[in-house]
Amino acid sequence: MQLKDQVAIVTGASSGIGREIALTYARAGAKVAIGDIDMNGANAVVSEIEGEGGQAMAVEMNVTDETAVNAGADAVADRFGRIDIMVSNAGVQIVHPVEDFPYDEFRKVVDIHLGGAFLLTKACIKHMYPNKSGSLIYMGSVHSHEASALKSAYVSAKHGILGLARVMAKEGAKHGVRSNVICPGFVKTPLVEKQIPEQAQSLGIPEDEVVSRIMLGNTVDTEFTTIRDVADVALFLAAFKTNALTGQSITASHGWHMG
Ligand SMILES: NC(=O)c1ccc[n+]([C@@H]2O[C@H](COP(=O)([O-])OP(=O)(O)OC[C@H]3O[C@@H](n4cnc5c(N)ncnc54)[C@H](O)[C@@H]3O)[C@@H](O)[C@H]2O)c1
Repeated sequence: MQLKDQVAIVTGASSGIGREIALTYARAGAKVAIGDIDMNGANAVVSEIEGEGGQAMAVEMNVTDETAVNAGADAVADRFGRIDIMVSNAGVQIVHPVEDFPYDEFRKVVDIHLGGAFLLTKACIKHMYPNKSGSLIYMGSVHSHEASALKSAYVSAKHGILGLARVMAKEGAKHGVRSNVICPGFVKTPLVEKQIPEQAQSLGIPEDEVVSRIMLGNTVDTEFTTIRDVADVALFLAAFKTNALTGQSITASHGWHMG
């Protein structure tokens, strides 16, 4: 019970990586808020956590909507008394070559990943600073460090998250708040399943080549990272006790990115 009596808010927790982090935190004793636009998914995760004897709440929150994000964070603090851990994880992927990338789609990706991370941070630190403690965790990506063709919006946003997290390490320190980024390699979630046929079409190659060459070609063992791997890193960061570990990014990618 490494997170006993702690309160966590995890966005994008109705699905994929966020859902696994929410379940892992609840099993470690945390009360968990599931922030998402998909309320059916969020309620299902809440039921799963409650079924295991944990405590959770669903919070309807489009992370690009400042009013909804503030109201969501306040609702979590009202219900559970505090916010100790923030996981900014909600995300989407849209791929095009730059010459065909509609600007509104570029902005949508950046708004959700980077704008959403900023808004959630602002809404959560207001509850963390008075307690002189907190852990901000951002879902980056290997694409916070590396680039791939077709992903200008995503790569720009994920690089930006490193900057935001490092600023928060500096601003948060005097309030006992630490700030770190998790950088996973490819994880088979709905976000990635959708990209396989899209990239096959854009690049004019078969789907199995998208997986073996484009997605996993630079790993040491041609293996996907799993939701479990990412949730384990998220638990490690949330449970870490001091500001020794702040302003860092931890990459879990089967060696795709080393550094
Ligand atoms: N799957 C991967 O390979 C991979 C690798 C590195 C990083 N990531 C990152 O992990 C995070 C989670 O991705 P995933 O693979 O679990 O995807 P997913 O599609 O399974 O889950 C994304 C979740 O975000 C929610 N969401 C989308 N837009 C939202 C918005 N505006 N407001 C609130 N919620 C919103 C969705 O409803 C969904 O529940 C993303 O930030 C993604 O960039 C994923």
